[in-house]
Amino acid sequence: MAETSRKSVVLGVTGGIAAYKAAELTRELARNGIEVQVVMTEAARGLVAPATFQALSGKPVYTDLWDARAADNMAHIELSRGKDAIVVAPATADFIAKLAQGLADDLLSTLCLARECPLIVAPAMNRQMWDNPATRRNIERLLRDGVAILGPASGDQACGEVGMGRMLEARDIAEAVTAFLAPKSLRGARVLITAGPTFETIDAVRGITNRSSGKMGYAVARAALEAGARVTLISGPTSLAAPAGAQRVDVVSARDMFEAVKKRVADADIFVSVAAVSDYHVASPQRQKIKRSARRLRLDLLPNPDILAWVAARPRPPFCVGFAAETENLRKHAEAKRRAKKVPLLAANLAQQAIGADDNELTLFDDAGAHKLPRASKQVVARQLVAHIAKLFKEASSKR
Ligand code: CTP
Repeated sequence: MAETSRKSVVLGVTGGIAAYKAAELTRELARNGIEVQVVMTEAARGLVAPATFQALSGKPVYTDLWDARAADNMAHIELSRGKDAIVVAPATADFIAKLAQGLADDLLSTLCLARECPLIVAPAMNRQMWDNPATRRNIERLLRDGVAILGPASGDQACGEVGMGRMLEARDIAEAVTAFLAPKSLRGARVLITAGPTFETIDAVRGITNRSSGKMGYAVARAALEAGARVTLISGPTSLAAPAGAQRVDVVSARDMFEAVKKRVADADIFVSVAAVSDYHVASPQRQKIKRSARRLRLDLLPNPDILAWVAARPRPPFCVGFAAETENLRKHAEAKRRAKKVPLLAANLAQQAIGADDNELTLFDDAGAHKLPRASKQVVARQLVAHIAKLFKEASSKR
């Protein structure tokens, strides 16, 4: 199995009202497997107690330039050594000005100046401060210096005004930082993914669908984007937001999904079929609502095309990855399905444990046998799956 080494960041918290969101950010980063060392400015300490960050990160919080806990009293150098990035969230207008000038009058600004890793900044301030020409100049300068700026967003502000300057939500920052740090194992690869349930019309208001939430397919899309892929996500009806950067195509029925796949498959290097595709559709759906009656009602169902098997049978197919939702005999059914659909990789799970849930336990079946992934959140599992896809895809490409 491809392993991803643990990433670690310094999270710099400066004195904006959004400092409370940095607590949630610490948790989200940790949830994504990233080690977090929190450094706070003096002003931030007045807003959120360091103990909160210490509890969430599992590490002591630093503020002081000459903190005796750091090796050789060199906290301003030591704390960012070996780190993959410094993330400043929230970054106040004042702190951004300091960064732009290269000032170093406290621990966090000194760490930023003395760093040898990338710097990511999430601004948070009142809309007038954000619009001020001085801030505009400072942001432009940071961008020219190669600093990554996340946000800000527009919305309600702590001061009661509405406008640009609100810090991005913790989850969005964590997602962007995780993507930034992820190994780019699929750089440039074009990945086509199907996700979610399909819906087959019975009449004007009813249909046949299933309990798939789309979460697994969307997590695979996000993981592929993190790995540097260009992602097209063909999605059945779900309530999920498409991951930023994915091209999303909405479909309803299995036959719509098939058409959408057919249109795009020639441009795909990898096809991941996560959708829970309905195996049948109604032979003659009714335009009007079927009225209740005491008589028996029979639905005549016709088989849907097997999208994955069709793609895998193309003359020069993309690297195909199937999913299998089973309710029993996982290994036997999954291996049979992999052979029947002729796909190099099949990810199998127990439907009763996976459908609609936030976490999942996958077993991957390929030519080398079975690889069981530990139970984890769908996002974590999706990253491991993508790492495995990247490894097999590379091997397959080198043989072509
Ligand atoms: N699949 C597909 N088109 C279909 C049915 C399934 O592309 N009409 C894909 C799914 O996206 C998945 C794989 O085939 O990657 C297996 O789907 P699954 O529902 O587990 O199996 P089925 O082939 O439908 O077989 P069964 O329902 O008998 O288990």
